[in-house]
Amino acid sequence: MATAQSLRFQDEPQVDPHRESSGIDWATVALPDAWADRIDWTHLPDLKRVARTLLGRAHRPVQLPADLPGRELIPKYVLQEFHNLPNGNYSKSFSRGYAQGFDRVMLGSLTQGRQRVAAALRGAQCALDLGCGAGRQAAALRDAGVADVWGLDPSPYLLQYAARAHERINWIQGVAENTGLADGQFDAVAVCFVFHEIPPHYLRRALLELARITRPGARLAVLEPSPVQWQQGYRWLWRHYGWRGLYFRALAQRAHEPFADAWHRQDFTALLAEVGFTVREEETSCPFRFFLAERTQ
Ligand SMILES: C[S@@+](CC[C@H](N)C(=O)[O-])C[C@H]1O[C@@H](n2cnc3c(N)ncnc32)[C@H](O)[C@@H]1O
Repeated sequence: MATAQSLRFQDEPQVDPHRESSGIDWATVALPDAWADRIDWTHLPDLKRVARTLLGRAHRPVQLPADLPGRELIPKYVLQEFHNLPNGNYSKSFSRGYAQGFDRVMLGSLTQGRQRVAAALRGAQCALDLGCGAGRQAAALRDAGVADVWGLDPSPYLLQYAARAHERINWIQGVAENTGLADGQFDAVAVCFVFHEIPPHYLRRALLELARITRPGARLAVLEPSPVQWQQGYRWLWRHYGWRGLYFRALAQRAHEPFADAWHRQDFTALLAEVGFTVREEETSCPFRFFLAERTQ
């Protein structure tokens, strides 16, 4: 087994104080506009560029403003136009649109999915929502009674949205493989629609990092897109899930998710076992795959 670093329990775990972005109040910090915030909607070339991205015809690397807080913590693989969003998750306007539209595009199913994750982690004292995006999973954990909830995401724009929308949660910038959080800080971790956005090499490092920041016995609840809408054909999906199966397959094919194929090919249970987590529950349906694991080593 790959071992987590020696666990150091603290009464008040702190994020790494040397990280410049660790002390940022994401609700109030001024964020610079990205190019996608300055689109001239009367300028035809601008419109064409945006339309081509939204339709999934062209994707360019994300450009970060030079003065973006925490810019140095954002790895290159994240800087892609995921989900056909102009400049990906790195603008005020499209982050807001994504935050408001994601649940609608998922036909409301994410509300139930997030509640399932929160229910699986109920009773925890300190929980992390890894890849928190607009913060709805973190809010579900808080509403389930977890007193100390943390939300971590690489995107300053999404963190700002989350921090303004949800109170009594600690928001922090980072990536799953480099959280800057303390050893053994958490007894629960929620992951909602994040691992399929991480390339395999970094996913393995992310799981090692989760082993480091959790205590023995900690629970890990993971909700990800199901492989069925990725791997099965339309006929099979129609027979098993009706029009929703067809819809989620079309969605999976259209949304730009460069690492989704690699994610669906991995044996996640085996990866978890390598870092000391044992799967206690697993369910594959449409549109979700759910795992509940426990840190047993
Ligand atoms: C599909 S969104 C899901 C957001 C949120 N968990 C939810 O339930 O709505 C994926 C999120 O993962 C974040 N993300 C991508 N790569 C990441 C990484 N390496 N570590 C942590 N978060 C990451 C993105 O910034 C984005 O907010």
